[in-house]
Amino acid sequence: MTKTILRALAGETLPTPPIWMMRQAGRYLPEYRATRAQAGDFLSLCYNPELAAEVTLQPIRRYGFDAAILFADILLVPQALGADLWFVTGEGPRLSTITGADDLAKLGLVADIDEVLAPIYETVKILSRELPKETTLIGFAGAPWTVATYMIAGRGTKDQGPAHALMREHPEVFDALMARITEATIEYLSRQIDAGAEVVKIFDSWAGSLKGEAFTKYALEPTKQIIAALKARHPNTPIIAFPREAGDGYIGFAKATGADCVALDNSVSAEWAAANVQVDGCVQGNLASSHMVTGGQALVDDTKRIVKAFSNGPHIFNLGHGITPDADPDNVQRMIDAVREG
Ligand code: CP3
Repeated sequence: MTKTILRALAGETLPTPPIWMMRQAGRYLPEYRATRAQAGDFLSLCYNPELAAEVTLQPIRRYGFDAAILFADILLVPQALGADLWFVTGEGPRLSTITGADDLAKLGLVADIDEVLAPIYETVKILSRELPKETTLIGFAGAPWTVATYMIAGRGTKDQGPAHALMREHPEVFDALMARITEATIEYLSRQIDAGAEVVKIFDSWAGSLKGEAFTKYALEPTKQIIAALKARHPNTPIIAFPREAGDGYIGFAKATGADCVALDNSVSAEWAAANVQVDGCVQGNLASSHMVTGGQALVDDTKRIVKAFSNGPHIFNLGHGITPDADPDNVQRMIDAVREG
């Protein structure tokens, strides 16, 4: 019996959509906080295969999600390329910055990233042994643009200003950085698939700040390039693309990039996305993650509305973005019940 997520990704319309949740292993769960404390800090948790596998499994045990997503972070690739990376509690990631050709020259080679990333592949191997047989294992990486925004600014930024400035003022440095990340991402995802990831997802969290030609050049094209390289090596591994806040850019994105599924944020309506995006294949996402904090009837109503809007085509139920640390774990169960009750 093929796993439900793989059936949806192959284009099948299922009576009940399979479910998983972005950031399903995370700080809203007390068992996650306990394991992170045991590891010491977030990055030590990412690089500890036994404990990273443990936190990946926690939401599967608690809720029986149809997919598990590897516990890691998109910023491990810059670290493997030689960037300094640390996390400031309550604030977020910090990295060394890239402001010109000198910083770029200090980065390491793609050929050397697997030395740093080996523990991540080990986590994938443990998970492919330990997951329930009906649960799909999803690997992931950041898309080059989103990863570049962090590498250039050295932190998360509201409007990705520093990355846009480098693109404008030093296009040759910007393009070389994008090429390096693209190559590293192909290697990283390919090795995750070798280790047992059954699906991979490419997170372009900041795709929404690329407009017009820049969206095509820096969101669509790199994703297409990564997908083409992965499909050449692993033709049977489905790929989910998440060009977050792409708006009209979601239209035709799957066809243009070769993605098997497009993940949707919650700035577009499910009804619009059913008519404009799901016509090309599987879609995923769209429930506002704020419902996981506020709960109540609105959570149930919105969940059922999204399920209904996507009921005539392939659909994987998910949030529009990651669940936040202030979410109530009981609301996750309410969402799952609302999806499965139909
Ligand atoms: O979805 C999952 O459960 C898999 C694990 C995962 C994490 N990060 C764990 C994490 C995935 C897929 C990511 C992706 C990621 N990381 C993205 C793309 C998706 C998105 O959310 O837009 C981005 C932009 C990052 C970079 C990143 N990592 C930031 C900006 C932060 C700090 C913000 C925050 O929520 O604190 C992180 C930290 C991070 N990554 C945490 C987790 C569980 C929280 C760290 C902790 O436990 O203290």
